[in-house]
Amino acid sequence: MGALNEKRIADYLAAQPQEQIISLKGWVRSKRGNKDIAFIALSDGSTIKTIQVVAELNQFDENLMKRVTTGSSILVKGKLVASQGAGQTVELLAEKIEILGDCDPEKFPLQKKKHSLEFLREIAHLRPRTNTFGAILRLRHAMAFAIHKYFNDNNFYYIHAPIITGSDAEGAGEMFRVTTLPAENAPKNESGEVDFDKDFFGKEANLTVSGQLESELAALALSKVYTFGPTFRAENSNTTRHLAEFWMIEPEMAFFELEDNMDLAEDFLKYLIRYALDNCRDDLDFLEKRQQEEELQMKKEDRSSMPLIAKLEHVLAESFERLTYTEAVGILEKSGKKFEFPVSWGVDLQSEHERYLVEKHFKKPVILTNYPMQIKAFYMKQNDDGKTVRAMDILFPGIGEIIGGSQREEDYEKLSKRIDEMGIHRDSLWWYLETRQYGTVPHAGFGLGFERLMLFVSGMGNIRDVIPFPRTPRNLEF
Ligand code: 4AD
Ligand code: MG
Repeated sequence: MGALNEKRIADYLAAQPQEQIISLKGWVRSKRGNKDIAFIALSDGSTIKTIQVVAELNQFDENLMKRVTTGSSILVKGKLVASQGAGQTVELLAEKIEILGDCDPEKFPLQKKKHSLEFLREIAHLRPRTNTFGAILRLRHAMAFAIHKYFNDNNFYYIHAPIITGSDAEGAGEMFRVTTLPAENAPKNESGEVDFDKDFFGKEANLTVSGQLESELAALALSKVYTFGPTFRAENSNTTRHLAEFWMIEPEMAFFELEDNMDLAEDFLKYLIRYALDNCRDDLDFLEKRQQEEELQMKKEDRSSMPLIAKLEHVLAESFERLTYTEAVGILEKSGKKFEFPVSWGVDLQSEHERYLVEKHFKKPVILTNYPMQIKAFYMKQNDDGKTVRAMDILFPGIGEIIGGSQREEDYEKLSKRIDEMGIHRDSLWWYLETRQYGTVPHAGFGLGFERLMLFVSGMGNIRDVIPFPRTPRNLEF
């Protein structure tokens, strides 16, 4: 039997032992015992749990056993039996142990004691070996799979938006340039500016901030589509909610209006949370315990009001509160709370405002709609009041904005005028505008930040800890 069909530790832990001889490969998490017997906790990453390997020391070479240390990789052959000890139902009675890779216990940075998340970020190459990151990586996988499953089951088509683009989808100018021009002495044009005509694409190129514009093109042919890819933003915000490289899920639907968009977003988020509860229970139990231990060190007001699983269940049980931006500003103004950033109609809401609405006022997720046109992107459908657009942001407890979306402006004249008003180069968007001339239809969509979803579902507090290799300002080691 080749490696392809080998069972994992998770499979054996779930099975009834039949005293069969099996072999397992993995990494030693810990070894304890006495002069007669060793108990080795072995992990292969297939589950948060380790399997207990029991080795009677008189059957093994002393030098071999010395090399079985935390972090080393080993192969064990033996009998799978019912466990005598507490905490596990089966264990592996070792008959043969082979060292696959030594691990110097003096140097190995991951000791049995609990390490801080900050320290683990400095050893991002090894942190998948910890319980916390094992759980996070399995959960990330499950969420990515569930996203594709949800859309496939609901007749959406997966579209691959380009990563290198010649346009700024959000018009916020926070892009990373892509170039093959030399950093020194780049060719200049007559006006002394860098001559992008000499660059690889013959024009300025950047990493995309969103797959939306391309997603719209596909929706205006296939009706229901989505993208799920990496997006890049050069905003210099060093917060626990921002990455320079993050993954975004962007569904786009022809014939959907704002209400339909909200219905889809709420159903989608609830499906994903339900999926995590149904399929990742061991990891969520672990993460909940971890969070509770971590919070013991925090000030009371900074602690979450509910344990992780209760919080997830709570969101499933509630219907999201829907109200307009204008109503929300009214609530904030009447709250009597002194915000760091004062609120008035027209300002962009800060995370403190969003969290007040969600955590203090409504105590459940909130969908805010119809934002002032001035603070939103050019593509949003304009309301008849001439002041607001058909935007929707979904705000979550502990997170703030998790989804941003809108109905799109499908009227050529209005869109065209808005692009000019905002000083956006229409040459980079002619193709986008043209879709409003050839069979335009009402359509809508939204973007879910994958790592913001991961923050919510895992209960982790920093976005750097829910992506394997975070990209943030001055951080590009791994
Ligand atoms: O609100 P945003 O900027 O919307 C768009 O990009 C639209 N094109 C989406 C669409 O309508 N198709 O971003 C969408 C979501 C945010 O709500 C947030 O969850 C996440 O992307 N996000 C970030 N996540 C991590 N780091 C950042 N720097 C993020 N910026 C946005
Ligand atoms: Mg937004």
